[in-house]
Amino acid sequence: MASLTIDHLIGLDGVPREDIALILDTTDTFLEVLDRPVKKVPTLQGKTVVNLFFENSTRTRISFELAERRLSADVVNFSVGTSSVSKGESLLDTARNIEAMKVDMVVMRHSAAGACEFLRRRCTSRFINAGDGAHEHPTQALLDMFTLRREFGTLEGINVCIVGDILHSRVARSNMFGLVTMGANVAVCGPPTLLPRHVDRLGVRVFTDIDEALAWCDAVNVLRIQLERRAGGYFPTLREYHDVYGVTAERLDRLSRRIAILHPGPINRGVEIDSDVADGPQSVILRQVTHGVAVRMAVLYLLGTKTE
Ligand code: CP
Repeated sequence: MASLTIDHLIGLDGVPREDIALILDTTDTFLEVLDRPVKKVPTLQGKTVVNLFFENSTRTRISFELAERRLSADVVNFSVGTSSVSKGESLLDTARNIEAMKVDMVVMRHSAAGACEFLRRRCTSRFINAGDGAHEHPTQALLDMFTLRREFGTLEGINVCIVGDILHSRVARSNMFGLVTMGANVAVCGPPTLLPRHVDRLGVRVFTDIDEALAWCDAVNVLRIQLERRAGGYFPTLREYHDVYGVTAERLDRLSRRIAILHPGPINRGVEIDSDVADGPQSVILRQVTHGVAVRMAVLYLLGTKTE
């Protein structure tokens, strides 16, 4: 049976093509499970997974919990607001105490880049990064890639543009690493102030004109402006951002062909994307969410059953 070379999923930077392909192929199998009347398999029976969320989440958290339960794992949810972190307990003490209760896997979200890797080095469980600051969000990129692969039949040679707040986006970084590894042509587009310096060194093309970017790509992955990371200070107003970089029906109508519209969520309607585009026929946004459960089942299964 094929096995991953990685022992943890911290990011897609450096993850071999064979590992990504194995996760995407395994996702196909689990997507079929999700279509069955009984959406459950005994694969992770006897394993315990802790969802360690230090930052808010809707999609990722629910998706991981559903994936774990559908694999028959025992699931423990940790929320920072109701934990002893509020009494001053450190990140490391929190993790070591949870691990002392004999858990097998930790799914972790944190607002600090590197937090997941920090704990991975100091603990013995298997770690899956569910988003760490502006660093990486590997399972989001995997579900984006899985959605693109189903849409186009392949990732090799397709043109994918990521639009928006690239500077603060862990989703953009994981997508760039993963898509480039899988042979897609990748571009980023946004205000120059929201593009990381030297981003082209990651093997991606850079656009600052949204209309040129949309004319180039087969699929656009639209990112929200991360106001919680103070991205609002990088351009004059949200209204101006929408006028210059918003993905609108008018812009799509001017193209000579149909492109696929992705968005990792949460959406700020009327800012980076209009409602008629987000809810329109070219949108695959809710399909991404469905695929997210199957992708996470694949990652949990492949890491949870891996022998040393
Ligand atoms: N895409 C994503 O990470 O969404 P949540 O913050 O709701 O998990």
